Amino acid sequence: MKKITIAIDGFSSTGKSTLAKQLAKELGYVYVDTGAMYRAVTLFAMQNNWVSPNHLDREGLIAQLAQIQLHFVFNPELGFGEMYLNGNNVEKEIRTLEVSSLVSKVAEISEVRAKLVEQQQAMGKEKGIVMDGRDIGTVVFPDAELKLYMNASAATRAQRRFDELQAKGDSVTYEEVLKNVTERDYIDTHRADSPLVKAEDAIEIDNSHLTREEQLQVVLDLVNEHAKSL
Ligand code: DC
Repeated sequence: MKKITIAIDGFSSTGKSTLAKQLAKELGYVYVDTGAMYRAVTLFAMQNNWVSPNHLDREGLIAQLAQIQLHFVFNPELGFGEMYLNGNNVEKEIRTLEVSSLVSKVAEISEVRAKLVEQQQAMGKEKGIVMDGRDIGTVVFPDAELKLYMNASAATRAQRRFDELQAKGDSVTYEEVLKNVTERDYIDTHRADSPLVKAEDAIEIDNSHLTREEQLQVVLDLVNEHAKSL
């Protein structure tokens, strides 16, 4: 079957990455988690004191963007690529609530977006890629053969994220996570550069009441349909 580009966008914690990883495995595609790239830039900015809860040194970060090298290194045990920042595996550090609460500020900076979008487009030159984020179907791959727009209620998403963080031993409350999810929704949909919007030709999937397996089957059927019509 002909390989295609699959773009998955949607709010935080809608299960985009779970679905994208399942698809990549089933189809033998490469998975790219673009949120991890924005998170890694945020971590770099935190390490250099360019961003904190009440401060953002845009110019400081922009001036040093060329110093940020991002790579995914495939981990065969996990079945997907882990995020490396300047040669260091930062998979764990980029998933904390601290990074989650600052990442939207960094993702608003146009210079940051331009750098990451360029790298994402280069990674997707070959078909057979599944990429998830906020602007994949609208900006990164406007010509993707299959675009999905994932949705679920804020409460469902906060509960999922809370369960994940608790399982990792993070001592957060459900209320903190819900606040973070709601704030990020607002910033992600209201920023000037590439706000989260559903691409006109994207297929919306609300998975509040779908199991992972049901959702995967729905999407695999869509992939088959789209690949057949090429
Ligand atoms: O998918 P995620 O929750 O790991 O993404 C982290 C943040 O990065 C999210 O709040 C918005 C931003 N982001 C973005 O602006 N554009 C993307 N393509 C991916 C993520």
